[in-house]
Parts: sequence; structure tokens; C-alpha cells
Amino acid sequence: MSDPSWFKDAVFYELHVKAFHDGNGDGIGDFRGLLEKLDYIQWLGVDCLWLLPFFPSPLRDDGYDVANYRAISPEYGSLEEFRHFLDAAHQRGIRVIVDLVLNHTSDQHPWFQQARSSPESATRDYYVWSQTDKRYEKARIIFIDTEKSNWTWDPAANAYYWHRFFSHQPDLNYDNPEVQREMLDIMSFWLDEGLDGFRCDAVPYLFEREGTICENLPETHAYLKEIRKRLDQTYGDRILLAEANQWPADVRPYFGNGDEFHMAFHFPLMPRLFMGVRSEDWHPIVDMFTHTPSIPENCQWCLFLRNHDELTLEMCAGEERDYMYYAYARDPQMRRNIGIARRLAPLLDNDRRKIELLNSLVFTLPGSPIIYYGDEIGMGDNVHLGDRNGVRTPMQWNADRNGGFSKADPLKLYLPPISDSVYGFHVTNVDSQRQSPHSLLHTMKQMIARRKTQPAFGRGTLTFLHPKNDKVLAYIRRYRGNELLLVHNLAGSAQPVELDLSAFQGQVPIELLGGSRFPRISKGLYSLSLAPYGFYWFSLEQPQHDDPSYGIEGSVV
Ligand code: BGC
Repeated sequence: MSDPSWFKDAVFYELHVKAFHDGNGDGIGDFRGLLEKLDYIQWLGVDCLWLLPFFPSPLRDDGYDVANYRAISPEYGSLEEFRHFLDAAHQRGIRVIVDLVLNHTSDQHPWFQQARSSPESATRDYYVWSQTDKRYEKARIIFIDTEKSNWTWDPAANAYYWHRFFSHQPDLNYDNPEVQREMLDIMSFWLDEGLDGFRCDAVPYLFEREGTICENLPETHAYLKEIRKRLDQTYGDRILLAEANQWPADVRPYFGNGDEFHMAFHFPLMPRLFMGVRSEDWHPIVDMFTHTPSIPENCQWCLFLRNHDELTLEMCAGEERDYMYYAYARDPQMRRNIGIARRLAPLLDNDRRKIELLNSLVFTLPGSPIIYYGDEIGMGDNVHLGDRNGVRTPMQWNADRNGGFSKADPLKLYLPPISDSVYGFHVTNVDSQRQSPHSLLHTMKQMIARRKTQPAFGRGTLTFLHPKNDKVLAYIRRYRGNELLLVHNLAGSAQPVELDLSAFQGQVPIELLGGSRFPRISKGLYSLSLAPYGFYWFSLEQPQHDDPSYGIEGSVV
């Protein structure tokens, strides 16, 4: 068996099968198409794919409304094709995790259809029913832009049912041991198929208790530990990644004592990275780490900039939220629910330097980075598409018809590809960036490769330096005698910085991305200057006897 802590060094890549590549020409991406693009994923250096839900679904929430947990949606292919894809991924050393949607099903799921038909039905108690909509009133509404209540009246059932998300997504009743068992069995079904784990959707909401906000309840944690136990007992090095959009202190319990989730997204950090670069100030980023508790040794944060949802501002209150809207979504069309439905490149005004800078932060801060498909080439979005579809458009492979995504009639595509003159597939695509050695794609590939040479990125401790210049974020990562110094200029102007590196006196900084040696660290403050949005990844090394000295070291000014 491989190293069970592989996920700590891994680079993740999130994609939707429907959006990546269409192998059968019907306008919708599928497993055949994805298989054809595995070489690209391998070339980029990705270790683990996260696939969005690919199960049969009425697609009213892009597959998070599951109608059958044990099948592949026919649009994406057959179980055979899925297996073929998974084998091919594994042969290339790429792991694959998928969403496990625990909290709710689609209202089209046979369990719900049966449940609503009669109070006596075998699955009635799979869901949460009530004769009044006044229960659990302290629970907030999550999709405030579409839902008015967490209860919806079902005339067929003659009762209200409970739902934390869309009203067509009834919540499962985890007080029912049958539901608990069903979901464990579904997990085993996919692990037996060979999947490497799950991104567990919306985990804080599994149980409801009167008088509480119905989030993060002890009962929920107890059940999640059962899931972990099943995983560990039979399946070795597979992983569970938690989607718990919460403050770090509330996410911390999802790691348990290393016996619940292996990983959890760091939701509140994400908007602070955007705030830091926009305000040219390291405080929002460093402050977030002072609120981040330590996690067990066998666990890991998952760091991200964008995903398939809106850039959520749920973990930003008052002024911070206003600031984010002001800075990144002045046009109300860009806003969805509590957040901003835009992709990385347009959020950053397509400024290569800012895109690289933010990626550098998620590659070098503690955690494992996850890249959202298309962001490695700076794909754009379409804010005029409904829901969060603007960031879910087809992957842009080349300048051919449909951006090389599909051979179908363009009108048949599941969503129109981006075609404007800045981000459109004619200009922004994988082929052209592969041909251009200085493209964003090549830089991303290089960052991934460099990150892998240094286990301190995935496993090291974090110490912030506090330079006087608050536009420059600098920190040390340490792991088993290896020491890295990361320096980021959050400003759009060149910046000087003086760092207190007295603890490293005598050592030589080697810049990992360019391979150059910098002057040896001596007594006193260490001076650096950084280009606008520039950054350095230094490895601090012991000097070699025959190290040449640099002009700058010996010079007398
Ligand atoms: C997913 C969303 C989805 C929601 C309800 C999430 O957190 O990321 O895309 O709409 O769960 O299932």
C-alpha cells in the first residue's frame, strides 16, 4: 500500500465530467472524453482529481440533486466507461475522488417519491417531516437568494419536509439508522469500484436538534466518525475531504483526533487572500492564521481560490463583505447568493502577475492546493448565465469549433463556451499555452513541479515574519531540517523589504523557481526588493565551501 498520508503532498484538480471533454459528440462532456485528456492532467502534474457529482440527476443543482447514488448518469457514459477511465487514471498515478452528497437527495430520488406517497411507506422516515413549519427556527437559510424557508409543504405527503438547500433537495433523516446504513453502503459501493475517496458535501447539516442552529452537532460528528471507521477498516489509503463552510474553530472538530476527516477546505482563508492583494496588506491573511487552530498530524487543510460555486462570502461579515463586493463585484450581475460568481482570471482583471501571486500563496501556505479546471489557463466566465453556470462553461482546449471541447453542433452544447475577445477559446486555450513556454499554463506546471520537490510545503510548520512593510507577506516553512522562506509582494508597485533572518545567519537562499543563489544571510536585516506582485520561493541552504561569492556581497558602497 502507498503512503497513507499522500494527500499532504498532493496537488488536486477539480472538474466536472460534463465540462471537460466530449468524447461522443453529443455536446456534453463524458468519461470517454475525460479519458482522452488524462495525459494533459498528468502532464500538468496533478496528483488527484475531484470529480463533481456524475450520478443520475434532474440537474436542478448541477448533480448535487442525486436521484440514484449507485449509477453513472447515462449522459456521462456507462459504468464500464467509468471503470476504464479510473483504471487509466490509476495507471498514470492519478487518484480520483468524487462528491458524496450526504445531506440530501433529489426530490426525484425513489426514496423520496415513495416516502411522500404514504406515511406508511418504507422510506417515509428517510426524510424529515413535520405538520408545522415552525420547527428548528434557529437554523439559517443557506440559499437566501432562492429559498424563503427550510420547510416546504408537500401536498402529496400532506406534510412539510425539511431542506437546507433548494426545496427540490429534501434532507435525509440521519436519526434513522436505515439512512445511516444506506449512506455507508453507498460509500462502500464506490470504494469497491476503486475510487480514492470523497469530497463530502455539506457535512455540517446532517442532524437537526430543536433550539440549535442545526449545524456542527455532536450527533453529526459521531456519524462522520462512523464513516471514517468504515473507510479505515477496509480501504486503507483513501481519503475524506470535508466541505464545511465554517469558521476555522468550527471546522477543527471535523478533523477529530485524526479520526474524522483527513482534509477540510479552508473557506475563510480564501476571501482573505483576495482581500490581501486588493488592499496590498498582509494583515487579513496573517490574521486568519491566528484564528486557525492546529490540526492533527495526519490531517491537512485544502487551499483553494475558486471552485464551481460562487466565491462564498459567508465567512466574511459586515465591512469585509462590503469590501469584497466593492472590490470584486461592483456589477450586481456578478453576485450570487452570498458571494461572487466569477472565475479567477476575470476577478483579477486578467493580470498575470496577480494570478500567479495568488496561486503562489495557495501553493506555499500550509495545506494542499486545489486548482479549478480552466483556471490554469486563465479561463473567463459568463455572468449572464443563470445560477453558478457562468463558471461552469466548457474547458477550452484549442481554437477550433467549440474550443475543441466537442464536435457537436455549437447549439447542442450543455452551455455556450466563453467566446469573448479576451477570454474566449480563440485566444485562451490549452494548445496555444502549451506552445508558448512563458504562458500561465507553463508557470502553473512549473509551480506544481517545484512544490513537489519540497515536502515542507505540504508538511512544514508555518512562522510569519512581520516586516515593517505591510505590503510584503513573508513566512518560513520548516520540515525535518528543511527551511523555506516565502516572500510575496501584495502590491502593484515594486517594494523593498527588510527581513529579520537572524535565526538563519550563514545560510544561503536559493530561489527555487529560477534556481538562482542569493547573497548569504549575515547579521542584521536581510534586504530584498520585489517587482510588482512579485514573489520568491527560497530554500535556505547551508553554504558549500566552493560557493562563489556574489558581487553584491563583497561590494563596498
Ligand atoms: C455544493 C453546491 C451545492 C450545495 C447543495 C454545495 O456545497 O458545492 O454546488 O449547490 O452543496 O448540494
